[in-house]
Amino acid sequence: MEQRLRDPPDLLKGRCTHTTDTNGMYPAVLPYLRCPVCRAGLAVAETGRAGTAPRTAPRATAAGAVLRCPSGHSFDVARHGYVDLTGGRATHPGDTAEMVAARAALLNAGHYRPLAQAIVAAAAPAAPPGLVVEVGAGTGYYLAALLDARPAEVGLAVDVSKPALRRAATAHPRVSAVRADVWRGLPLADGTASLLLDAFAPRSGAEFHRVLRADGALLVVTPTAEHLRELVAAGGLLTVDPDKEERLAATLERWFSLTHSVRLDWPLRLARDEAHALVAMGPSAWHAAPASIAAALAPLGEPVALTASVRLTLWHPRPIPDAARGGPGEPARSSVPARRS
Ligand SMILES: C[S@@+](CC[C@H](N)C(=O)[O-])C[C@H]1O[C@@H](n2cnc3c(N)ncnc32)[C@H](O)[C@@H]1O
Ligand SMILES: [Zn+2]
Repeated sequence: MEQRLRDPPDLLKGRCTHTTDTNGMYPAVLPYLRCPVCRAGLAVAETGRAGTAPRTAPRATAAGAVLRCPSGHSFDVARHGYVDLTGGRATHPGDTAEMVAARAALLNAGHYRPLAQAIVAAAAPAAPPGLVVEVGAGTGYYLAALLDARPAEVGLAVDVSKPALRRAATAHPRVSAVRADVWRGLPLADGTASLLLDAFAPRSGAEFHRVLRADGALLVVTPTAEHLRELVAAGGLLTVDPDKEERLAATLERWFSLTHSVRLDWPLRLARDEAHALVAMGPSAWHAAPASIAAALAPLGEPVALTASVRLTLWHPRPIPDAARGGPGEPARSSVPARRS
């Protein structure tokens, strides 16, 4: 089923135009953040080291600033505008610079605009105004679309990949970016996020539940088993596990009630290098050499005609007693696609 959506915000009408000179943490996001070591609040300790002053207001906490908790744990705002709040405990480095560059090229060319529109439409009635968080945000493309449609709100891009965070930090004037590993916990206070987006990224039901407001919403995007089926058939891509949807439900149902589910299919017409980027930005990039990707794409001609197919699910937090809570959990096996046999 294809979806048609109404009145897209500016970002969705064309190429992404939001890469800005602003750099650093948006002040309004600071009260939501927590020290990854002791969980206390963070405040700006120093700003404006020589040579790192912000070029554009109102980034009070610009590159060169230091965030500090009352116990003295301190975290620099990196030159690229994000803050590392992993506390040195990341389980892995996340997407590589090549994968992130490939994703940026595909997204900025507008090929995933129908999905951005669907995300904005699904979120609109579901979540109260407040902090919008994207976990595994990548370049921050979908978070920027959400903020375009929610002009009074601020966004937080969370990712473990430094190359991704460099881009996310400038994805939108109201986005701040922090480095964190979802399996080690999110550096956010309890019950602070109004809307949490997870698109093609790892999911921790327990941690998502902890940081969401009781009236907040979780929006999850997962590929269906039909996603990019033409590329899978040509041998250029790993398959999506057909049981993925059931496993998604199993991961989240203890913490959330499913309130909405919609499948979105749309056609992609890609130049050969864009199709190459599409493979390079996904999990197949970990397994396939550039030459084998090129060989798989060759029979598909140009433009490469593909079908994108995803499911958007909307979840609302169940009431859970504090005593029944655990940690962020373990990496879900569903985040690892199966190779086509
Ligand atoms: C497939 S990409 C999706 C990016 C973005 N949501 C999008 O759709 O454009 C998955 C992202 O999750 C990040 N990621 C992977 N494991 C993570 C973890 N444990 N904690 C935080 N981010 C993680 C990766 O670095 C990558 O940027
Ligand atoms: Zn601390």
